[in-house]
Amino acid sequence: MSEKNPNTVAIQALPEHVGQEVSIAGWLFNRRSKGKIHFLQFRDGSGRVQAIMGKGDVSEELFERCAHLPYESSVIVTGTVAADERAPSGVELKASGLEVLQEPTSEYPISKTSDIGPDFLLRHRHLWLRQSKQHAILRVRDAVITAIRNFFGERDFVCVDAPIFTPNACEGTTNLFEVEYFDEKAYLTQSGQLYMEAAAMAFGKAYCFGPTFRAEKSKTRRHLTEFWMVEPEVAFADLDDIMDLAEEFVSSIIQYVLEHRRAELDVLERDTSLLEKVAAPFPRISYSEAVSILNEKGIDFEEGGDFGAPDETALSEHFESPVLVHRYPSAVKAFYMKRDPEDDNYALCVDMLAPEGVGEIIGGGQREDNLEVLEAGIDKHGLPREAFEWYMDLRRYGTVPHAGFGLGIERTVAWICGTEHVRECIPFPRMLHRIYP
Ligand code: 4AD
Ligand code: MG
Repeated sequence: MSEKNPNTVAIQALPEHVGQEVSIAGWLFNRRSKGKIHFLQFRDGSGRVQAIMGKGDVSEELFERCAHLPYESSVIVTGTVAADERAPSGVELKASGLEVLQEPTSEYPISKTSDIGPDFLLRHRHLWLRQSKQHAILRVRDAVITAIRNFFGERDFVCVDAPIFTPNACEGTTNLFEVEYFDEKAYLTQSGQLYMEAAAMAFGKAYCFGPTFRAEKSKTRRHLTEFWMVEPEVAFADLDDIMDLAEEFVSSIIQYVLEHRRAELDVLERDTSLLEKVAAPFPRISYSEAVSILNEKGIDFEEGGDFGAPDETALSEHFESPVLVHRYPSAVKAFYMKRDPEDDNYALCVDMLAPEGVGEIIGGGQREDNLEVLEAGIDKHGLPREAFEWYMDLRRYGTVPHAGFGLGIERTVAWICGTEHVRECIPFPRMLHRIYP
């Protein structure tokens, strides 16, 4: 196999090399031939470009080989860069040489013409990633992650990683993944929040960012069993502070992606007009106001329950911008939520619903900071107190009001990209009955 030529350049950088002879290292993804010319399309991960190969430009043998070179052959192509206004990349390559590293051993399974369903694509996720739409979604995901790190870094939050193996539940016991941990039982984390509360008491402002696990038995377009969540937690903050942070945070993610991933949003044919309008402050409504909106829309929803997927969709379609829904009934929320001192049937919590029918992307709120009330909550939820001793220590030693939230990465990416299902918004999705590849 050949070494990469020192003149190898990334396809995205070709416009800087007009008039020069360079090499690109990549894969063939499309081809058209017209008489004595081949139009060969290559991708290298950074971009896509067309190379023109005329019969007289290369050896007869190579010209003949390129007429049949299978898709996804790995190659090094040498040629002169020429400006071409019609090309999406602004350039094309006049090929003078082509070296084949490997020819696929059989026909590439994801052909452009055959009608392949989602199950086939998901089983070939390792190859599907090469397709332009999937490539664009994951590049948007990458930008979302950069925006998140920048946002917290600029505001002096400390990234404190939470563990994956945990001794206790955080978000209810019905969707826990239990694993054997030597001779004990452990659970895959549902949220790093409780650990971030410890971190906030040590660092003031902290966040974690990592995979979280929910044994979701439901097959919906919004649920994965393994998803990534970013969870900031702030000491001496209340519900209003955290709502301010959440809207500033989401606005900054959207602005960053619009600035850095235009080309990808174009590939996805995303209408960005609504994204462009996303700017803090967002509308804020209480749970009770949200129930009235549902009822006005003729949706039969009774005050007291949690919103189901159709309710969330309806609320999310009602607003053009993300909306903050606060103060849900405490009965439907987790044990750690602080009760509203104005009416303790409600919790000082907030969900952010993204527009266009996307629904919840953020859940969070103010935490119960009183030891006795917290103990009662743990008992009421049937949770084992022993597992939470360390968490209760945070209330024993210098408790303060504090608040935080969790943002789901895949749902955020799905919203930005306008994809129907979160499964395309994570490189290798884990869902009910799906763990391959
Ligand atoms: O609302 P959730 O369950 O909140 C928590 O876990 C809090 N402990 C977070 C905190 O306050 N630090 O989850 C937060 C977000 C949801 O709004 C959603 O975006 C995402 O995580 N999420 C999921 N994403 C994909 N698949 C699932 N099964 C998800 N469950 C939650
Ligand atoms: Mg939630």
